[in-house]
Amino acid sequence: MDVQRIRQDFPILQRQIGGRPVIYFDSAATTHKPRQVLDTIQTFYTTYNANIHRSPHTLGQEATDLYEQAHRNVARFVGAEDWREVVFVRNSTEGINLVAYSLLHGAGDRLRLAPGDEVVLSVMEHHSDLVPWQMARDRGGIVLKYVGVREDGTLDLSQLQASLGERTRLVCCAHVSNVLGTINPVREIGRLAHEVGALFLVDGAQSVPHMPTDVEEMGCDFLVFSGHKMLAPMGIGVLYGRRELLEEMPPFLYGGDMIADVTLEGATWNELPWKFEAGTPNVCGAIALGGAIDRKSGRRLEGAVDYLQRLGMEAVRAHEIELTARALAGLQAIPEARLYGPLEAERRCGVVAFVVEKDGELVDAHLVAQLLDDEGIAVRAGGHCAYPLAQHLGVPGTVRASFYLYNTTDEVDRFVTALRRIIDDRLL
Ligand SMILES: Cc1ncc(COP(=O)(O)O)c(C=O)c1O
Repeated sequence: MDVQRIRQDFPILQRQIGGRPVIYFDSAATTHKPRQVLDTIQTFYTTYNANIHRSPHTLGQEATDLYEQAHRNVARFVGAEDWREVVFVRNSTEGINLVAYSLLHGAGDRLRLAPGDEVVLSVMEHHSDLVPWQMARDRGGIVLKYVGVREDGTLDLSQLQASLGERTRLVCCAHVSNVLGTINPVREIGRLAHEVGALFLVDGAQSVPHMPTDVEEMGCDFLVFSGHKMLAPMGIGVLYGRRELLEEMPPFLYGGDMIADVTLEGATWNELPWKFEAGTPNVCGAIALGGAIDRKSGRRLEGAVDYLQRLGMEAVRAHEIELTARALAGLQAIPEARLYGPLEAERRCGVVAFVVEKDGELVDAHLVAQLLDDEGIAVRAGGHCAYPLAQHLGVPGTVRASFYLYNTTDEVDRFVTALRRIIDDRLL
């Protein structure tokens, strides 16, 4: 992968912070957008803008066609058999809320979560995959069971196995932890869930942008991910769900495009995926994520998915392993830095969280991040929307550096050098 060439596609990387070109190590929060995707946004609004599925005029038809192509392209990207299994939502959080609401409120008997039914989660979940289930517990009387994390930052699979039983209806798990970077063995977890007749939801927010994804191979029933973490704009995300399940589930939001017919007495629902796409969707965001071609002119609107596919997800993954291995080695050479998560780069994604201890005292993670920012290095600090995990690790927060395809090994080296200097000179 020619990273120097790739970097030219990202105008924001020209920005200077603290008098130096910014080193952006916060892609787990959101990624930058390449000029190809920015062009697509501009092209959509300057050439094709119209509402979809309703206007008979040329612009309306073109916008509808581009939007539906985006469904299909995203479906191919994640290996979905049927494009109707791809529902456009705002983000991963909305996708999980949709599933939680729908399973709690009136899915058919086979799917409905009833009091006493069990949902199994991991301690390393992001709040987006915890709080919707806690609300379902409080409102619907379901029981939550949590699977812990082992010393090496991996999921405790024996505890998972012990948590599963005949009342388990659903297992929810992040494919990749946004703090530990751990890649969870989703295929194995899915197999265990299905063995007891439970459904399996994968939070792919930190995996889909970084490695090849195949929902069939993963064996998941639901997968959520966010466009903004994979080069697309904010406000577009995806819920993948197996068709037979989505067919049975009731809508989450009501009104607009999700209806087939309405009388004053009631309404019937549209087909998939529109049943779950109420109101005017983020048409431009979907196209900027999935990409599409104007069939009349042949003009290409490149989406984030096209960009990633051109590079190849295997290559994206290989590049991140290289960056992660370098960061892990560099940080391990700093005795004051305590790292979390597996220490082998192959077992994790490009997320490296650590704390700094100086003279036996934990340094505030926000202070470390602030001092790195002074050097033009953007990292995140805090609980990373995974407070229970921070509690489990016994720290108020960590510093997190997260990488993507536009980062270089040179940037990693400069980050490690800057941290060393900060510990020596600025933390007194
Ligand atoms: C593992 C994980 N799940 C879910 C989310 C929520 O993503 P969004 O804010 O795009 O809904 C994040 C965001 O950081 C995440 O890292």
